[in-house]
Amino acid sequence: MDMDATDITELDDDVEAKDKATIPIKTYREIIDSDSTPAADVLALKSNPPQPTDDIPVEHFISQDFFNLEMEKMWSRVWQFACRDEHVAEEGDYFVYDIGRYSILIVRQADESLKAYHNSCLHRGTKIRPSGSSGYAPNLQCPFHGWTWELDGTLNEVPCSWEFPHLDYEANRLPEVQVESWNSFIFINMDLDAPPLLDYLEVVPEHFENWRFENWYTYQHVQKELNCNWKVALEGFMEAYHTPLVHPEMTHVVGDWNMQHDVFGDHTSRDLCPLGVSSPTSTLGLSEQELADRMLLGDPESHEDGVPVPEGKTARIVMAEQMRQKFAEDYNIDLSGLSDAECIDSLKYNIFPNMILYGGPGLPQIQLFKPHGMDPDKCIMENFNLRPCPPGETRPDPAEPYRIKEEESFTTVPGTNEFSGSVLDQDTSIMRWQQEGMHASKKAAQTLSRYQESRIRRIHETLVKYIEG
Ligand code: FES
Ligand SMILES: [Fe+2]
Repeated sequence: MDMDATDITELDDDVEAKDKATIPIKTYREIIDSDSTPAADVLALKSNPPQPTDDIPVEHFISQDFFNLEMEKMWSRVWQFACRDEHVAEEGDYFVYDIGRYSILIVRQADESLKAYHNSCLHRGTKIRPSGSSGYAPNLQCPFHGWTWELDGTLNEVPCSWEFPHLDYEANRLPEVQVESWNSFIFINMDLDAPPLLDYLEVVPEHFENWRFENWYTYQHVQKELNCNWKVALEGFMEAYHTPLVHPEMTHVVGDWNMQHDVFGDHTSRDLCPLGVSSPTSTLGLSEQELADRMLLGDPESHEDGVPVPEGKTARIVMAEQMRQKFAEDYNIDLSGLSDAECIDSLKYNIFPNMILYGGPGLPQIQLFKPHGMDPDKCIMENFNLRPCPPGETRPDPAEPYRIKEEESFTTVPGTNEFSGSVLDQDTSIMRWQQEGMHASKKAAQTLSRYQESRIRRIHETLVKYIEG
């Protein structure tokens, strides 16, 4: 399969040029040009090659046959985020990553490297560790009859071994899958012939050169069960076209329709969303001081009320100053090399198929969208929220997952602030309606906008390449 990344030196400004000719909306670049720092090189890049405008069949979201093809041809061949380094920090630490019918057991080795195995016993198939579990084990013992493997996958104990004179121990090493860690994010790939992770990630490693998360940890891990296809949930976070109707109060503090959407290759895209400015759809006319008063960053503890905005400064500049000061004081981290936009904006990178990774320190989180079992109408959304390790201390243990049902509010999750939780509730409350509506559809297709939903289109193009490839 040909999976060449788009060459970012061949960028296309046509879409933006056309938009500017017809719609009086400031671009993301125009907004960050009013900051106190020049635009960071990485944020100055644009890449939105022309795409077709064909409809997307709803079959992609509601068909069991299509879901099964995704499972067999796509999930089995892509790099996918499983957990962070802190989840398997020491020798013998393990983490079970489940995706559809597959289950993968990631294990930290004695030499600090990682190995990952199909989580299925070679005796009679039992999962060696339960789905969704993590922890420590000195070896990998099946809970049914006790076949036991070393951490490196060597079979070394079979109870009643005289019963198995026909057993080839070497051939019954645990079958491996690929596993690699980048920036402390651990990815697996079941395809042993797949290209290395860094190639798969296209521009992302280069873009994240100044956004390092090695010395961070997962302080909150939320899982929400949803009654929709995993792509319905994912794609709800890939455009801000819905903001005026779904999050009307957010339009006052977020430049939703100002967002920049970039498509870099088959596997990666991003949107850059300015915070601390009002959307073109906001009618409140907030002052810079009012914008600063309403501004929230991802980590609730990083927000302080009552920051004055002096004459000649903007809410964005003041918030960026506050971020730099907080990181220096609390974490001994110097953000002076980052632009204002890198400090405060939502810099949302999509890594195909199902990961959203935020760049910069302002909203440090991962969002993950996974099928729930083998049902195309169900998925699980996961949020891993990150925080720097306290200076001089060892990395704290990662938070245990906190699971909520569709009808439960994100605001009930300990450590979630009211505003962020209610925004996520708004996003997820529309998803069942979309899933049910697609089943009810006479048109049986979606018609996407050419720019604001261009990244969604790319997801489907790449998905079809895997399915047909
Ligand atoms: S099924 Fe695993 S030891 Fe029997
Ligand atoms: Fe939203």
